[in-house]
Amino acid sequence: MIRIGLIGAGFIGQMHALTFRTASMTSWTPGIDVRLTVLADQDPTLAAGIRARYGFERMTTDWREAADAADVDLLINAGPNHLHAEPSVAAARSGKAVLCEKPLAGSADEAYALWKTLEASGATAMCAFMHRSIPALNLARDMIRAGELGEIRHFRSRFLLNMITGEPLSWRFSRSEAGLGALGDLGSHHIDQARFLVGEVVSVAAMTSTWTGDPAGRVTDVNDDAFVCVGRLENGASASFEASRVAAAHNLGGSIEVDGTRASIAFHMERLNELVVLEPGRGPRTQLVTQAGHPYSDFWLPIGIQGQHPLGWNECFAHQARHMLEAAACGKPVAPRATFEDGYRVAEIVETIARSARSRTFETVTFRS
Ligand SMILES: NC(=O)c1ccc[n+]([C@@H]2O[C@H](COP(=O)([O-])OP(=O)(O)OC[C@H]3O[C@@H](n4cnc5c(N)ncnc54)[C@H](O)[C@@H]3O)[C@@H](O)[C@H]2O)c1
Repeated sequence: MIRIGLIGAGFIGQMHALTFRTASMTSWTPGIDVRLTVLADQDPTLAAGIRARYGFERMTTDWREAADAADVDLLINAGPNHLHAEPSVAAARSGKAVLCEKPLAGSADEAYALWKTLEASGATAMCAFMHRSIPALNLARDMIRAGELGEIRHFRSRFLLNMITGEPLSWRFSRSEAGLGALGDLGSHHIDQARFLVGEVVSVAAMTSTWTGDPAGRVTDVNDDAFVCVGRLENGASASFEASRVAAAHNLGGSIEVDGTRASIAFHMERLNELVVLEPGRGPRTQLVTQAGHPYSDFWLPIGIQGQHPLGWNECFAHQARHMLEAAACGKPVAPRATFEDGYRVAEIVETIARSARSRTFETVTFRS
């Protein structure tokens, strides 16, 4: 039994509430039950609705009551980026496990301090880079590690969506509240995937763009709307990353491609049950990642005569939730899900990309240990 405190009843807080409940019903053993103990959000009307929908035992507008609560074993921090550090530290210091949303912090300095503080506390801590719990990307990683693609030469990614609604801009658009924009919010996912699939990012050259202004005039320090970056990975492979929040026709278009000396793979978020495999002299083959033996294929139901069913984004959140529960309840390692060190390293890469956009030169990523 893991008792959960959740900070943030917004978009992703709701996804965590839903998927921690469902993750407690997986067929994986041992069964780990959950209690949704306390929900904290500064907006009492929103919190009351979300509390009722998912069955939290109580709610508060003060995040400290969730971070310090004696009847919470795991704090899920789904607050805005500027609220990641303080509650995560408070929860770790009172003996809780922590699942913190990405990006871990608004700057590399803050992310580093957060990682080191939680490391010193001995807390079990995961950073919610949810792509690490997508079956097709786990299969891709297995294939790469087994050498099926040969030596990896290229990693390529794109993350496109539209966040411009004509409404006043939220905290996400503010450099002081969120840190970086498309680069930190969207790019961080794919930077983490380059590391998860192929290896560390060692140098980058990039440009960023900003077109957006706040119709309400509240946000005066609008961060980047888009970025494009080329980079070098530790094995010598080239990498490219692109993300935009102003690609008006895209709901959520995410693509990841890896090319090796023997084969290539391609993944598209809108078709997340599929991995496209290409081999020299053969056309592309679409591998449905729902077969017996594939990652997470036995997560929900026994594999049998009913066939295999496609999964969606929220199920992948439930996979992530299960790993967090196993780490908190059974002491299983957080890796290969993202640790706080991964969260820090991505923040360092993100900041180096922003520096490169300003200096208009290649910049080397320097990691602190
Ligand atoms: N892993 C993913 O795929 C994914 C997707 C979306 C968002 N996120 C991350 O999740 C985090 C939250 O994003 P979101 O889209 O849910 O934002 P959101 O604005 O929808 O929700 C944030 C919530 O936090 C509350 N809040 C703000 N300040 C607070 C305070 N001081 N005390 C208590 N509550 C407070 C707000 O009222 C709001 O309900 C961000 O870090 C974002 O990057 C991750």
